[in-house]
Amino acid sequence: MAAALKVGVAGLGTVGAAVVRILGERRDTLAASAGRPIHVTAVSARNRNRERKIDLGNVRWHDDPVSLAADDNVDLVVELIGGAEGPARDTVEAALKAGKSVVTANKALLSAHGMALAELAEEKNVALAFEAAVGGGIPIIKTLREALPGSQLSRVSGILNGTCNFILTKMEEDGLDFDTALSQAQALGYAEADPTFDIGGFDTAHKLSILTSLAFGTKIDADAIYVEGIQTISRLDIAMADELGFRIKLLGVATRADGGIEQRVHPAMVPRSDPLAQVMGVTNAVQISGSASDITLIGPGAGGDPTASAVIADIVDVSRGMIRQPFGIPVAQLATPRRAPIQTHEGGYYIRLDVVDLPGTAAAIATRMAEQQISLESILQKKPRAKAPAAASDKNTVPLVLITHATSESAVRRALMAVLADGHIQGAPQVIRIEKEK
Ligand code: HSE
Repeated sequence: MAAALKVGVAGLGTVGAAVVRILGERRDTLAASAGRPIHVTAVSARNRNRERKIDLGNVRWHDDPVSLAADDNVDLVVELIGGAEGPARDTVEAALKAGKSVVTANKALLSAHGMALAELAEEKNVALAFEAAVGGGIPIIKTLREALPGSQLSRVSGILNGTCNFILTKMEEDGLDFDTALSQAQALGYAEADPTFDIGGFDTAHKLSILTSLAFGTKIDADAIYVEGIQTISRLDIAMADELGFRIKLLGVATRADGGIEQRVHPAMVPRSDPLAQVMGVTNAVQISGSASDITLIGPGAGGDPTASAVIADIVDVSRGMIRQPFGIPVAQLATPRRAPIQTHEGGYYIRLDVVDLPGTAAAIATRMAEQQISLESILQKKPRAKAPAAASDKNTVPLVLITHATSESAVRRALMAVLADGHIQGAPQVIRIEKEK
């Protein structure tokens, strides 16, 4: 058998520890699959003394991950530190510059610097592999990069953040409030170190930017993504969604149309019959549509073992000498995308307003919608069945929910500015885009 591949693992959190453990547990099978043994020869982490339940007896410890990247006894660097800057970026750059392949789960790093890092990898003819960066254990990177060359893709969308899906599921199924559900997600190890990345939609945006590039053959354009998180979703919205036949999901959506590429991350009303609405808990899902494809991949999106399994798939590829262009085609040939801004988005809308309960207010609001050519599909003014509290206010307000037919984002924004100026509502309108089945 060929000489062993010597792997250095930088970052020993949930995923890093699982990588080291599984490489040990499945040593023989992986050696057969990889064509040579895979040995972890070096590791790096901030805290040496943490109990990780893995054997690090014969492994060199580096306090500095950049020195791990320079270690002569390391052929391939696995970067699981996280973060777009600092030690993660320094380690990946050092490894690539030294002509070593890199396997990473770092979506923030790729979203910010993926193009430059991929160019460096191409120049050095080494791998920059990142199956674990999106969708945890779902093989979505390989699928987009390698499996669909005969299909002109028009849309990629999905539930890309396990923490948000877990929170929304818990709010719906157990009637939990947002904070309690978030604490549970953190206790289970799903959430990012800074939960704002999850609940604010930024983690989804990082992942979406990578999928968009792979799906459409365009340069990563993360700044173009419209991002909303799930912080404003109330139990009242979840109860209303239930009454209307929807589930609320945080989606990342990228579409290619005549106007350019639209990339958006926001909570969406998904019809309960859509496969994405069936995806509960920490599970992720990605839908790909194109001239010859209509695929939904569903699987574990976070957690140690599924993410580690994706990391190991990349390690096995590298050990077999499979060095691909990280984004499928050379970076220099990726197109610069034309941006379709959110204002041009067209679709249905759920609009919840806390309306002052006086004669004529609903009619006045409907008039403001009509002025913008917004056609209403339904108007609900009733307390939902669930025991969700209406917004507290000193005036007597009731929740009024409008469901619109397809209209443009800019029309909705203009109508709501007028409604706000009329003074018939309390607080900010809640606007949730409806994601129709294709
Ligand atoms: N915090 C991420 C999530 C982890 O919840 O999906 C996987 O990227």
